[in-house]
Amino acid sequence: MKNYTSINDIDNIKAWIEEAKALKQNPLKNVELGKHKTLGLLFFNSSLRTRLSTQKAALNLGMDPIVMNVSGDAWGIEFEDGTVMNGNTAEHIKEAAAVVSQYCDIIAVRAFPTLTDKVKDESEQVLKAFVKHASVPVVNMESATGHPLQALTDAITISEHTKKDKPKVVLSWAPHIKALPHAVGNSFVQAMQKMDVDFVIANPEGYNLSPEITKDTPIVHSQEEAFKDADFVYVKNWSSYNDYGKVLNTDPNWTITKEKLGDAKFMHCLPVRRNLIVEDAVLDSDNSLVIQQANNRTYAAQLVLKKILENG
Ligand code: CP
Repeated sequence: MKNYTSINDIDNIKAWIEEAKALKQNPLKNVELGKHKTLGLLFFNSSLRTRLSTQKAALNLGMDPIVMNVSGDAWGIEFEDGTVMNGNTAEHIKEAAAVVSQYCDIIAVRAFPTLTDKVKDESEQVLKAFVKHASVPVVNMESATGHPLQALTDAITISEHTKKDKPKVVLSWAPHIKALPHAVGNSFVQAMQKMDVDFVIANPEGYNLSPEITKDTPIVHSQEEAFKDADFVYVKNWSSYNDYGKVLNTDPNWTITKEKLGDAKFMHCLPVRRNLIVEDAVLDSDNSLVIQQANNRTYAAQLVLKKILENG
């Protein structure tokens, strides 16, 4: 594998999950693999889990991680070709990616969407520019439309905690005051489509994710209907896709409660706003898997880095 930019870079999700579980049992087994190799982590946006777990994964492989908050600390990067750079940007991605490639053996990038320009966001301008202009492999640490490290993590977590061969998994929208990206929801849908699960999405009218992502996955507009006999309820807010980037609904009736959840396991990528997305009683109960999920971020990232390093 050269790059990890999408969940579609996973050829066999079952095999990847098993390999990640084995890494978790023996995290330092491949500590020589990344010796004298450098992982560059470039953040255009905030992070806690992705930043620390990806560094931890690199350290487990013997790599040296170096981190930069690009927004604020670096020169403003220009992504358009042929532009007269007389505005706020000071260096072009062509130079920036080529230069960073000389310092790093793998580059990992986080760059969120604008949520105002659907065409630009769907073009994955930043991630694709790094893939095009870097001479080393590129890893997606959450781009405009996808968060494949999170989705691999989520697949591992469901596999670890399921008591059934084919569990029922629900992706449920929940309210939020801000316009949030679609990336986590998109990649989770794509991961579940690769898994042997009974999968349904619950969201209010006007909040369907891109039909190019959801394909024939059932979508219902009632949590009550979706949550019936659910084993795992994965919760995330996203802004409207049709009315792009808009907050159309903040209905607290979509907040996840202990009563609604029943015996199902609760999952969320974090960070989560308590008593807006989900009530305290869920997060503070044994039904919540959010801490275990966050732990698995390390092994998902470690597996991805290992596969890239093995590819040479
Ligand atoms: N889930 C996730 O990506 O967390 P961070 O935004 O803190 O990295």
